[in-house]
Amino acid sequence: KKYMVTLKINGKEHQVDADSEMPLLWVIRDIIGFTGTKFGCGKGLCGACMVLMDGAAINSCQLPVSLAVGKELITVEGDQENLQRLQESWEEFNVPQCGFCQSGQLITATALLNSKANPTEQDINTAMSRNICRCGTYPRIKKAITNSVA
Ligand code: FES
Repeated sequence: KKYMVTLKINGKEHQVDADSEMPLLWVIRDIIGFTGTKFGCGKGLCGACMVLMDGAAINSCQLPVSLAVGKELITVEGDQENLQRLQESWEEFNVPQCGFCQSGQLITATALLNSKANPTEQDINTAMSRNICRCGTYPRIKKAITNSVA
């Protein structure tokens, strides 16, 4: 059933009419209009739909919107410090190819840096294994993360 949901996204509250079971991804993209977050597989496998929820990177295609109420949500449009820094590094190293998966990649990398200021290569590999890139930009992603903390 539909009900009024209040979501806090990028520091601002948004009130929307949504079915409580609707995936958070649809609310973020189609109702609120933050289209940086992408729909890839819809099955929790690719990471294109990642957003930060209370600091953790989650697959928004898998989360009913009702479970995001009262949480701090950050999308790729947010101005979180590590996210900004990573975006600059992404530009410097020309990371994207087609670009579709990159907002999810950035969100996962942001969660990593928020939890560990100086990640090891192993930390980076483990964290980033949740995000798939069909263009194979993995080496540049790693380089951009490493350089953003150097
Ligand atoms: Fe959510 Fe692929 S679209 S994990």
